[in-house]
Amino acid sequence: MEKTIIKDKLNRPLRDLRISVIDRCNFRCQYCMPADQFGPDFEFLPRSALLTYEEIERLAKIFVSLGVEKIRLTGGEPLLRKDMPILVKKLSAIEGLSDIGLTTNGVLLPKLAKDLKAAGLKRVNVSLDTLNDELFGEINGRGVGTGPVLEGIDAAKQAGLGVKINMVVKKGLNDSEIIPMAEYCKNHGLELRYIEFMDVGSTNGWKMDDVVTKKQIYHLLKEQFELEPVDPAYYGEVAKLYRYKDADVNVGFITSVSESFCTSCTRSRLSANGQIFTCLFNGNGHDIRNFMRNGATDEEIVARITAIWNGRDDRYSDERTAETNKNRKKIEMSYIGG
Ligand code: GTP
Ligand code: 5AD
Ligand code: SF4
Ligand code: SF4
Repeated sequence: MEKTIIKDKLNRPLRDLRISVIDRCNFRCQYCMPADQFGPDFEFLPRSALLTYEEIERLAKIFVSLGVEKIRLTGGEPLLRKDMPILVKKLSAIEGLSDIGLTTNGVLLPKLAKDLKAAGLKRVNVSLDTLNDELFGEINGRGVGTGPVLEGIDAAKQAGLGVKINMVVKKGLNDSEIIPMAEYCKNHGLELRYIEFMDVGSTNGWKMDDVVTKKQIYHLLKEQFELEPVDPAYYGEVAKLYRYKDADVNVGFITSVSESFCTSCTRSRLSANGQIFTCLFNGNGHDIRNFMRNGATDEEIVARITAIWNGRDDRYSDERTAETNKNRKKIEMSYIGG
C-alpha cells in the first residue's frame, strides 16, 4: 500500500496506533482504576458511544495509509469486549501492518488465546505486578490471586503468541517483588519490563516519592544477575532492554519518569469512543467518531488526522514537573489504554 508519511511539529512521524476498545475492566488496580473512584455507580461509556468494529477497521486502514505500522489493542481490559478475535481478524487483513499486539491483565486468555492467535494476533503484554497472591489481590482491588493470570500467560504461550510481562513498580507496595519477578520471568523465558509508576490521570494519587526509578531497579538486579544492554529493535521502542548473559532472555525498563522518551514518540491513541489523543497525558482528545458518523469521506478523515498530527507538539514526560502534574487536566489511563 502507498503510504504518506506525515510529521508532527517536532518532526516525529506517525508509526504506532494504540486502540482502546473498551473503558471497563474486571480489575481495579490501585495505580490505574482505584476502586474507591471507580465504584459500582461509576458511569462507563454506553455501548452506542463505542466505535464499532467496522468503524475501528475503517480508521485503522486510514492510519496505516498515513504511516502506521504497528497496532496495539488496549482497554480498560480489551478482552472484555465481545468477539475480539473478529476485530483482530479484520485488522490483521490490513496491508502494510507489521505488528498487532494486545495489552491485557491475562485473566481471559485461557478462553481466548487460541482464537486470537488464529485471527492473526502476534503478541500479548500481560500485566503482573507480584507473585504474591495476597499482595496481588490488594493491588488489583478485586482480591484475585495470581493463578488466573499465570494460567493466562501459559495459555498465550501454548497458543504460540509472543508474551511480555509488565510490572508497574510502586515504592513500598511491590518493590520487594523486583527480584522474585526477575527470577520467575527469567526461568520461564518471559521478557519482563519494569514500569516506572506514572502520573497518568488524576485519580491514582501519584507522588514522585512513590516512583522506583530504572537506576534503582538496575542496581538491585546487578547484585544478582549479569546483564548486557540490547540495541533497540526499532526506532522509538518504549522499553530499554538488557539481556541476561547466561540465558537468552531480555529484561527491560519503561522509564517515562526518570528518562523520558518523547523525542522519538511516534504513537497516536484512539479512545474507545473515537477520540484521537496525541499524548498519553492529554486532557482532551480530537473527535473523529461523530465526524465519521456524520458522513465524512475517507479523504476528509485523512485530512483531519493529518492536521491533528501536523499540529502535535506534545512532550509531556520531557517537561514533567510537580507543577505540570498537579495543574493539568489529564485523561484517565483506563480510558486511553496506556
Ligand atoms: P511493545 O510493542 O511490546 O513495546 O508495547 P508497549 O510497551 O509500547 O505497550 P504496553 O501497552 O505494554 O505498555 C507498557 C507501558 O508503557 C505502559 O505503562 C504504557 O502506559 C507505557 N507507554 C507506552 N507508550 C507510552 C508513551 O508513549 N508514553 C509514555 N509515557 N508511556 C508509554
Ligand atoms: N503507571 C505506569 N503504568 C501503568 N499502567 C497502568 N497504570 C499505570 C501507571 N499509573 C500499565 C498497566 C499495563 C499498561 C497498559 O499500563 O500495568 O501493563
Ligand atoms: Fe484494568 Fe489494566 Fe487498569 Fe489494572 S492496569 S485496572 S488490569 S486496565
Ligand atoms: Fe509520547 Fe506523550 Fe509519552 Fe512523551 S509523554 S512519550 S509525547 S505519549
